[in-house]
Amino acid sequence: MLKLLGFALLAYLIGSFPTGYLLARLKGVNIFERGSGNIGATNVWRTLGPFYGTLAFIGDAGKGALAAYLGMCLGPTAAVLTGAAALVGHAFSVFLRFRGGKMVATALGVFLLLAPKATLGALAVWIFVFALGRYVSLASIIAAGSLPILASAFRYPRSICIFSLLTAVVVILRHRDNIRRLLEGREHRFGR
Ligand code: G3P
Repeated sequence: MLKLLGFALLAYLIGSFPTGYLLARLKGVNIFERGSGNIGATNVWRTLGPFYGTLAFIGDAGKGALAAYLGMCLGPTAAVLTGAAALVGHAFSVFLRFRGGKMVATALGVFLLLAPKATLGALAVWIFVFALGRYVSLASIIAAGSLPILASAFRYPRSICIFSLLTAVVVILRHRDNIRRLLEGREHRFGR
């Protein structure tokens, strides 16, 4: 039990690592004050270009995958716990006074390990929606919503299905500013 809690704490710290914020700081930019104000890869790309955007994406997805991998060493239930801890860390980072990102790339990393078929399906949904309108936020919202449906369609264990549903709800809630902008026709299109 103590080992499990230790792993969860470590996963939270891994998830807290503020990749996008630090990359922007390297360039003398406070990412909270630029673009959408999000620390995620999309806003880093928007603000600093493709190189830093890609690094932010790899870092955020990688920390999610690392946290889930750590949990997997103890068992599938532990992997759900460490994956969730990493997502909480990304959204409420101890290094950013409990501020953080919208969890999309980190969730991708976590669920690629926990539910690979469902996650690849959600990734295909993301690519399709993005190709239609070039709205990253809309693609992320719809892909997040598709994840629990795909997880249950592929018959993943109940704990993973419930975790994917909770993750989808939180990801969508964290996009509420984007949803408002989408409804008002003011959302940024990628690359414009
Ligand atoms: O992963 C976050 C993305 O869905 C939206 O990013 O910067 O446009 O709010 P942003």
